[in-house]
Amino acid sequence: MAELAIEGSDVIARMEELRSEINHHRFLYYVLDRPAISDADFDALFRELQKLEEEHPELVIPDSPTQTVGAQPSTEFKQVRHRIPMLSLANAMGNEDLDRWQERIVRVLELSPEQASKLKYVCELKIDGLSIALTYKNGKLVEGATRGNGDVGEDVTLNLKTIKDIPHTLSPENAVKIPDLLEVRGEVYFPITSFNALNKSIEQEGDQPFANPRNAASGSLRQKDPRITAKRKLAAWIYFAYITDSNIPELNTHSQSLEIMESLGLPVNKNRKIATGIDEVKAYCQEWAEKRHSLDYQTDGVVVKLDDRSLWKALGTTSHSPRWAIAFKYPPDEAETILESVEFDLGRTGAVTPVACLKPVLLAGTTVKRASLHNFDQVNRLGVRIGDTVVVRKAGEIIPEVLRVVLEKRPSDARPVIQPSNCPICQGELLKSAEEVVLRCTNYQCPAQVERRLAHFVSRDAMDIEGLGGVLISQLAQAGLVKDPADLYTLQAEQLLQLERLGKKSVDKLIANIEKSKTRPQASLIYALGIKHVGSRMAEILAEHFHSLKNLMDVSTEKLDTVEGVGPSIAEAIVQYFHDLENRQLIERLAALGVQIEANDESPKEQVEQTLTGKTFVITGTLSMDRADAEKLIKARGGKPTSSVSKKTDYVVAGANPGSKLQKAQELGITVLDEGQFELLLGV
Ligand code: IVH
Repeated sequence: MAELAIEGSDVIARMEELRSEINHHRFLYYVLDRPAISDADFDALFRELQKLEEEHPELVIPDSPTQTVGAQPSTEFKQVRHRIPMLSLANAMGNEDLDRWQERIVRVLELSPEQASKLKYVCELKIDGLSIALTYKNGKLVEGATRGNGDVGEDVTLNLKTIKDIPHTLSPENAVKIPDLLEVRGEVYFPITSFNALNKSIEQEGDQPFANPRNAASGSLRQKDPRITAKRKLAAWIYFAYITDSNIPELNTHSQSLEIMESLGLPVNKNRKIATGIDEVKAYCQEWAEKRHSLDYQTDGVVVKLDDRSLWKALGTTSHSPRWAIAFKYPPDEAETILESVEFDLGRTGAVTPVACLKPVLLAGTTVKRASLHNFDQVNRLGVRIGDTVVVRKAGEIIPEVLRVVLEKRPSDARPVIQPSNCPICQGELLKSAEEVVLRCTNYQCPAQVERRLAHFVSRDAMDIEGLGGVLISQLAQAGLVKDPADLYTLQAEQLLQLERLGKKSVDKLIANIEKSKTRPQASLIYALGIKHVGSRMAEILAEHFHSLKNLMDVSTEKLDTVEGVGPSIAEAIVQYFHDLENRQLIERLAALGVQIEANDESPKEQVEQTLTGKTFVITGTLSMDRADAEKLIKARGGKPTSSVSKKTDYVVAGANPGSKLQKAQELGITVLDEGQFELLLGV
C-alpha cells in the first residue's frame, strides 16, 4: 500500500510531539550533560520538524526549537547576556544538501554560474565540544561565557582562564594592533588522550566514567571550583571574531579574521582551507571523512562559511542559524563485525549487563572489541545470536553499541544468547523484579559485588581513599585481605608490601589515606555504605537532619517520613538496611576501628543544594517512588510541585499511565521527564 501523507490534525500532533521531544533532548544534552539519544537521531528529529514547518509555515510557533537555540542556562553561574546571539548552524547531511545551500546563496545574491563557480568558502573542522564567547578589552581577557540558550549564557571566566590554550593577554605579532574590544567565539574540547586518562582514573576510583569527551568538557568547564577545571586539561579552538574596532583593519573576509586572531596569539586550527566553488568544499569534506579519526579531538563534520563577509549581511540569518554558513555532518560511524560471544558484567548492586564480545574491528579510529547490549530486553529486541554479523555504531560515544543484526549473513549454526539463571561469578541465583528490566545477582557475598561495593566505599564522594583503585581492590579481595569495608582499616603495611607492584612509598601513602578517611564527614560515610536509594545528595539530607550515622541507625520509618525530601520508599530502604544484623555489625566494626560515626561538632550541616529554585513541577501517572516522596524531593531543592499544567510549568514528570496532563504538556512544549531523568535531575 502506498504510504499516506500525514494530514491535518495528524500534522499538528506530530509537530507538537517533535517540539516536545526535541526540547526534552536539548535539556538532557545541554543541562544534564546526559544525552539519551545520539546526535544523529537528534538531528533526524530536528530535520523532520523543519520539514513539516517548511510545508506548513502557518503552524510555526515562536517557541519552536527551530526558532530558538540550546537549552536554558543553569542557574549556578552568573548569567551573561551575549552582545550578539550565539546562533547554531544548519546541517548538511550530504553533498545534495551542500548543493541546495549553494543554490540558495546564488539565488539570493543573483549570481551568474560563472560567479557561483568562483565563490570562496572557508572550510573548517567542526569541533565536537561546547561553544564559548571570550571578550578581550585592551588585550585583556575580561569575560568568558558559555552559549546557554543563545541569548544568555553562563559566566565561566575563571574556569576558562585555567585552559592553557586561552591567552589571558593578547600578544600581537606581524604588526597587528591590539583592538580595544574584541569578542571571539570558539569551542572548548577535551583532547581524546586526556579524556581517556581521566576516565581511566575515574573508573579506578570506582566511579561512573563520562560517556564522551563532549560531556566531559561540558562537565569540567561548568565546575564551581576552577581548580577542578584546571586539573582536567581542556583545550580550545577559536573560529570566529565578532566585534572589532578601529585598531583592526576592516575585516573583509573570514579567512583574514582567522589570520588576525592567529597573530594575536589565539588558538586557531590550522586544519582549514579556502575552497573555490562548492565542488572543492565537497572534496575537503571527503578528504577529512577518515583523516579526522587520527586527530586528538573529536570532530563531527566540516563547517563551511562564505569567506566574503560583505555577503553575510545580504544573506542574513534565521533566528536559528546564519544563511552564510552550514555544518556538513558526517554520518555516525558504523562497522560490521561478528558477535563472537556474550559476557556478563556485574555491578555493585548485583545488576548483570550483557556485553557483546566482537571480532576486533576498526571503527572511528579505534579497534573495537566490546560493545554494550544494555540489558536482556535489548538483546531480545535485536534478536541477536552468537555468530551473527552485527552492525556496531559509535555516535559521539566512546562505548559503541550493537545497532542491528545483518540477518542475510546469519550462519546456520548461530546460537541464541541465553539469559543466565545463575550469576557468572558466584553461581548465585539471578532474579528480575517486575518493575525492572535488569537482572540481579541475589548473593550479597558475591565476589564481584563485594569488589564493586568496596570501590564505591572508597570513591571520591564517599570515603575518598586515594590510591585504592580497582586493580588494588581486586588484589586485596583475592588475597582474602579485605572482605568488607571495615577490613580496610585493619590493613598493615607488611600485608600490603606482599602485594605485587606496591612499593614502600605507595604503601605508606595508602595507609595514611585510609587513616585520613576515618574522619570524613558523616554525609560521605552514609553515602559510602551504599544503601539503596541513598545517593550523595540524599546522604547529605540525612546527615543534616540526624547529624551522624550513629543517630541514623536507630531512626524509625515515621521519623524519616517527617524529613523533607525523604519519602516512604527511601525511608523503608534505610530502615531495612539498618535492620540487617550484618550491616549493623559492619558499622560497629568500622566504629571500633576508629571511623567516626558520630558528628564531632554541632555546626550546622550543609544545606541540600537548591538546584531547582523557582522551577515548577507537575507529576502525572504512577512513579515507582511514592508521589509524596517525589514532591518532598522537589521541595527540598527549592522547586515547587503543582497540580495543573500551564505555560508556567517548567517540567512534567510522567510515570506509568500518564493522564491528560502529559498531552497538555506536549501541546505547550513543556519538558517532559521520565522517572529516570527526574532522578538524574534530583541527583538521588
Ligand atoms: S561557526 C554562527 N565554526 O558547531 C555560527 N562553529 O552546530 C558560528 N562548532 O554552535 C559557529 N566547530 O559550537 C563554527 N569551526 C567551527 C565550529 C563550530 C564547532 C560548533 C559551534 C556551533 C555548533 C553548530
